[in-house]
Amino acid sequence: MAMVAAVEARDPYTEQHSIHVATYAEELARRAGFSTSQIEIITLAALLHDVGKIALPDSILKKPGPLTTEEFEHVKLHPQFGVSILKPLEFLDEELTLILHHHEWFNGSGYPSGLAGRAIPIGARLVQVADCIDAMLSPRSYRHARTIPETILELQRCRGTQFDPNLAVLAIEWLREQRPVDEAAH
Ligand SMILES: [Fe+2]
Repeated sequence: MAMVAAVEARDPYTEQHSIHVATYAEELARRAGFSTSQIEIITLAALLHDVGKIALPDSILKKPGPLTTEEFEHVKLHPQFGVSILKPLEFLDEELTLILHHHEWFNGSGYPSGLAGRAIPIGARLVQVADCIDAMLSPRSYRHARTIPETILELQRCRGTQFDPNLAVLAIEWLREQRPVDEAAH
């Protein structure tokens, strides 16, 4: 929580995002049938996944619009920054692997290692899905938040390319249960 507070001091958006991603990752891990101890590791990794963003300059962290290619190359270092910051906390050993690989894509085109499929730790594949769900459901300065049906379509579109296909299905099933209150009332 001290690390999350440190992130908040730099960037309130990342703090809220981290808490949401931890909530979604815990729900998906529970649905995927992980053990209690595995759920705890995945949830903590999700909470800390973007701690490395603390090392990014304000010009990138707080840029209102899309990033340039060069800026994005800098952002892509944040998983390693996170691992470097948290490494002295030896009790986080298993979480560090998930933090390092939370931007790997199922088809191998992610970063930092370009791992594909089952070579990506499953907890990292799960944090990747939870991370993107919150990103899609949150507004950005340059676009509105996506609706739940739009988010489901995106999970379907990127199933097997960006997202683990089985975890994408679990996430879609969960989102389908999250009907807006007015819709559920009918
Ligand atoms: Fe990230």
